[in-house]
Amino acid sequence: MCGIVGYIGKKEALPILINGLRRLEYRGYDSAGVAIFQNGKIKKTKAVGKIDSLSEKVKTADMVGTVGIAHTRWATHGGVTEDNAHPHSGCQDDLVICHNGIIENYRELKEKFLSGHTIKSQTDTEILAHLIEVFYEGDLLTAVRKALSEVRGTYGLVAMHAGEPNKIVAARLGSPLVIGVGENEYYIASDTSPMLAHTKNVVFLDDGEVAEITLDSMKIFNVDHKIMDKHVEKIEWNEAQAQKQGFDHFMLKEIFDQPTVVKDAIRGRFSLEDGAAHLGGLNMTDEQMHQVKRVVMLSCGTAYYAGLVGKYAFERLAGLPTEADVASEFRYRDPIIDEHTLVFAISQSGETADTIAALREAKRKGAFVRGIVNVVGSSIARETDGGTYIHAGPELAVASTKAYTNMVAVLILYALQFGRLNRVSVATGERLLRALLEIPEKMKLVLAQSEKIKAIAQKYKDYKDCIFLGRGINYPVALEGALKLKEISYIHSEAYPGGEMKHGPIALLSENFPIIAIATKNQLYEKMISNIQEAKARKAPIILIATEGDAQAKEISDDVIYVPQTMELLEPLVNTLALQLFSYHTAVLLGKDVDRPRNLAKSVTVE
Ligand code: M6R
Repeated sequence: MCGIVGYIGKKEALPILINGLRRLEYRGYDSAGVAIFQNGKIKKTKAVGKIDSLSEKVKTADMVGTVGIAHTRWATHGGVTEDNAHPHSGCQDDLVICHNGIIENYRELKEKFLSGHTIKSQTDTEILAHLIEVFYEGDLLTAVRKALSEVRGTYGLVAMHAGEPNKIVAARLGSPLVIGVGENEYYIASDTSPMLAHTKNVVFLDDGEVAEITLDSMKIFNVDHKIMDKHVEKIEWNEAQAQKQGFDHFMLKEIFDQPTVVKDAIRGRFSLEDGAAHLGGLNMTDEQMHQVKRVVMLSCGTAYYAGLVGKYAFERLAGLPTEADVASEFRYRDPIIDEHTLVFAISQSGETADTIAALREAKRKGAFVRGIVNVVGSSIARETDGGTYIHAGPELAVASTKAYTNMVAVLILYALQFGRLNRVSVATGERLLRALLEIPEKMKLVLAQSEKIKAIAQKYKDYKDCIFLGRGINYPVALEGALKLKEISYIHSEAYPGGEMKHGPIALLSENFPIIAIATKNQLYEKMISNIQEAKARKAPIILIATEGDAQAKEISDDVIYVPQTMELLEPLVNTLALQLFSYHTAVLLGKDVDRPRNLAKSVTVE
């Protein structure tokens, strides 16, 4: 999501910056811009759309110079417009910044520091540019440090000031930034891919560090403003590897992104003190919220399974009758929808034709319709009367992974927001939120078992069929696990609620038909164990997803993947990762094209 490139040296900066942006295209973007020092001034050019549009525009912009910064923007705050594209300036054009990340308290900052400033864009980044301008007294490093000390949020940042030519200040907190070290030149970027053609020697900034880079020196300061002696690392990756940040596939990178991006889904959207969630995008008064008597989730594929988790969450926390509907079915029924129904249209791309048609139908029938979407400015985001971006960042692999977990996280927050109206106490809400905040670390514990899961995948990869079983909140997890496996490995896989197996699917079981069951320690654990015994009695090989420390799990299964315990409602945020890794490794071991599986498209824009 978003990309930064900077250059300071003796070569012409513009082609280096434009080519650098091209190397970052894989991250996804919808506008781009560049700024260059030129004769004591800073010149900026921005364009909406592809880098080719920017490249065309700069041809007539007469931008010549050897120091500059550039950016590709993937919209988060504000639509896709030239004004919203980076680089951003303050009131004067002598300061420019490019920024990745989110400034959470931008409204407060604007109120506190920026009276009398003219803000031209809808972005949080422009507020940061103005803030640096407020603190600027001839020293960019100090101004950046002072501004950042007021900021709550995340940033990868580069800044230049016309008063200090031949200097770039860079800073990082929660959004990566790398400095490439060449011969009398430095490259700065959000990952190594833009600099690999020029240098393999890099320094990775750590959180809280600020760098002052000039033509002949690079000083890096830690949070206490002490100069750091940073190690220059030699990168052996090629460009494709760098884009995947060293992972073999985008899918694997995106699976590993989850502990980071799930934080982006929840950050700034709750209050521990009130035990409550506050999703401003809901755009409903308390009175309107009280009018809601029913909730409907509309979505397809993986987003549908996220919606199913949302159903459990809404029923349990908000006490509202909730249905999750496959969008393509909903539109051709005569669904019972009225002005007391709240509909969530859930979609990674925001462009899924069936979901769009279904939400239009719900709107026609007078429902409150809200979007839960990843791609900013997409059709669903525009056609709904409010909603929430899930902030998963660009998802490039066709098989959805991190978008699913972020959808689930947002749905749980929505369920809590409604639950706190009358059903959930402050203490219960706080307990749920504290458990949610522990999820990123718990996700990491699952990801750390990737090699072990690979060994299990190796053992089962040649089976032709399998069944996933789950109960309660883990039934949608089983459905998602089966979808993931079939999508990328082409192994025939189905999912059933554990209790349903004896009503038919059990006829399939034999020593050639493995079961992958989620049997974590929750209120349905004993029931699930009975269902597994039924499968075991038919000689089906059993792979279990079980709670850490559960000794019985080992006894009744052939292989176990242990996951950390969490609150039952939050289990999909942990358990699903084990199944994603199982599908991924199976497909890789079978030699399949994991990122681009046959017959599938990332965005299904036809009915
Ligand atoms: O962009 P959307 O979330 O609306 O897409 C919905 C489905 O097409 C999508 O989840 C699909 O099932 C993926 N291939 C799942 O990995």
